[in-house]
Amino acid sequence: MTNRPIRIAPSILSADFSRLGEEVAAIDAAGADYIHVDIMDGHFVPNITFGPVVMASVRKITKKPFDVHLMISPVDYSISAFAKAGADIITVHAEAGPHLHRTLQAIRAEGKKAGVAINPATPVSALENIIDDIDLLLVMSVNPGFGGQTFIAQSIAKIRQAKALIGSRNIDLEVDGGITPGNARAVAEAGVNVFVAGSSVYGGNDPTTYAPRIAAIRQAASTRLA
Ligand code: DX5
Ligand code: ZN
Repeated sequence: MTNRPIRIAPSILSADFSRLGEEVAAIDAAGADYIHVDIMDGHFVPNITFGPVVMASVRKITKKPFDVHLMISPVDYSISAFAKAGADIITVHAEAGPHLHRTLQAIRAEGKKAGVAINPATPVSALENIIDDIDLLLVMSVNPGFGGQTFIAQSIAKIRQAKALIGSRNIDLEVDGGITPGNARAVAEAGVNVFVAGSSVYGGNDPTTYAPRIAAIRQAASTRLA
């Protein structure tokens, strides 16, 4: 179990994009801690979302931190644009380029928190040499590209390894993919404190459901084993 504060980060990938501003305002009002923004390029992942122009326009809707998950390759050229568009945390994939250390320095040089994500096939050991250069470690619990996929059970063991690598460092441990109130407790027990949730918050796109859904994930994540 983590002793870091639990953060719920609804992913706007599952928002109704025709009403994106309202959907961001709704999760803000419903108790989201972070706004998780999925940027996909149709190259690193088999799907395309949107870029810094759209992000900058929804940035005005809320003061909550923007947790920006870049699923793009190459990524270095775009860091400055997402920083200027209002990102607070910029997370890149360890698999996205050959110069991860340089990429992380570029994020910090923009004054932003630096995160690294690893795909299900990438071992935690890939991060050993940059662990002191990050503020957030994201374990992908699905293969990135789409919302609504099923949580990969082996991710629990991987999260434990990531927690061990982090040790006492001031680094958030985030999980992304298939998170529900039903698995949030096991994920929290393994060490996660930041929970991305797309379809389990936005599914059905009914704003009246967002607060109880966020609360249900938070409650599950906060429940300690007796
Ligand atoms: C997947 C994205 C996720 C996605 C999660 O590639 O990185 O953030 O929105 O969606 P759910 O919670 O539905 O798995
Ligand atoms: Zn994501």
